[in-house]
Amino acid sequence: MVIYRHKKVSSTSSNWSDCICIKDYMQEIKKVILTEEKMITVNDLTNGSSIPSRADIITNNPMKVINLTQLVHMLSDMLDLVGVNDLHHSKRVAYMCLETGRTFGFNHSQMEKLYQAALLHDCGVSSTSVHNHIIKEMDWSGAPEHCARGSTLLEAQPLFRHLSPIILLHHTHWQELDPSFSDWVAMLGNLIHLCDRADALMQQSASKPWLSVRNSVRDTLVHYKGSWFSPKLLEAFLAASRTESFWLSMQPQHLSQYMTEQELADPHPMVSTGRLRYVAELAAEIVDTKSHYTACHSQGVARFSAHLAEKAGFETDVCWQIEIAGLLHDIGKMRVPDSILEKPASLSFSEKAVMLGHSFESYQILHHVKGFEDISRWGAYHHETLIGDGYPFHLTEADLEIPARIIAIADIFQAMTQERPYRPAKDPDAVFDSLEHRVSQHRIDPDLVKLVEDDFEACWEAAALQQKT
Ligand SMILES: [Fe+2]
Ligand SMILES: [Fe+2]
Ligand SMILES: [Fe+2]
Repeated sequence: MVIYRHKKVSSTSSNWSDCICIKDYMQEIKKVILTEEKMITVNDLTNGSSIPSRADIITNNPMKVINLTQLVHMLSDMLDLVGVNDLHHSKRVAYMCLETGRTFGFNHSQMEKLYQAALLHDCGVSSTSVHNHIIKEMDWSGAPEHCARGSTLLEAQPLFRHLSPIILLHHTHWQELDPSFSDWVAMLGNLIHLCDRADALMQQSASKPWLSVRNSVRDTLVHYKGSWFSPKLLEAFLAASRTESFWLSMQPQHLSQYMTEQELADPHPMVSTGRLRYVAELAAEIVDTKSHYTACHSQGVARFSAHLAEKAGFETDVCWQIEIAGLLHDIGKMRVPDSILEKPASLSFSEKAVMLGHSFESYQILHHVKGFEDISRWGAYHHETLIGDGYPFHLTEADLEIPARIIAIADIFQAMTQERPYRPAKDPDAVFDSLEHRVSQHRIDPDLVKLVEDDFEACWEAAALQQKT
């Protein structure tokens, strides 16, 4: 058996309370709560009881905090991939919303919500064809479905729950808004609707310089003043967008600079590592929804990886990071068109080339997040092999840390438990044989596979469980 890094400090102890002093831990939490704007509360942590459960401690480890804006940017990077070659949609919408919101005079808290909601507004869109409809048609009849789906997804994640009603309204016409929504929710939802349509109009003329189409975009939007869009918001948009710089700022290189400035802006809302799970689960659910064949794939990879990591003797916080990496490993698949993911036959050479790009996209998105240095490697190396014939970096045994090897095995194992368009799901014997075959080819870690084989039933259950726990 190899000696694993990050071994448990007190691996002989079976009692969690022997490994951690609860009092010191609670002191640490209180310190962080004082400094973190969006930090967990003690009540969140303990669910009202005086002693936190083991699971609470694991999932609320406060030793590291991550910039919330960076995490929302990470999600928007992932969401924008659904456009395949039409990238940055959510960022252009967020930029226009912020600039218009500033002109309109929203307060700081509203601006913060507006920015996050605008970046995440299309979280209900996992499919390339849905994205194409929404961008190419000014008022697509299928649009409300993705608003409802996005709203439901955010409602389920405490970190983003407050954005849920705004997302629900982002294709609702101003005249049709239900008066039961608060004024500011209606205004933020309608502003996203306005800027979203502005971007759709720009993309419909994407072959022309934006400065040459800006007047026709503005004229089209004016046509819907009072019917689709709030007159006051439309006036604010017209005022904000009167300059050339407004439009030129949406070129990719300037947009990227704009996003970096938002990350650096004060105050920095921070997220505890425990709450990262909400972000990772949201990302996993969005990417797994791309195809019914891959439903719950990332969840299964994450569960299997955490289980195997524990069996391999990693300490709890590393198991937790491995689980997060498992949830995020395939986020780059958002760029793979539906037609390729669902093709009921072998992929052509060029389709394979598109598919091969997905783990590189995952890496590109994850490694920009400060604090995700390990998670980005462990998650994005899941198609690398010990002999160096994997992709996209052709790493070898010396480069591949054990957590990355765990996720690679989890990815193979989980995928085999599911049906694919070109093959049925495999039974346990076939999965077992396939792992053995890959070991014989020196592609996956033999010691880890031995652990899987010794605990096959539990591994199968972790990988194949289709219900979100
Ligand atoms: Fe959109
Ligand atoms: Fe993958
Ligand atoms: Fe995968």
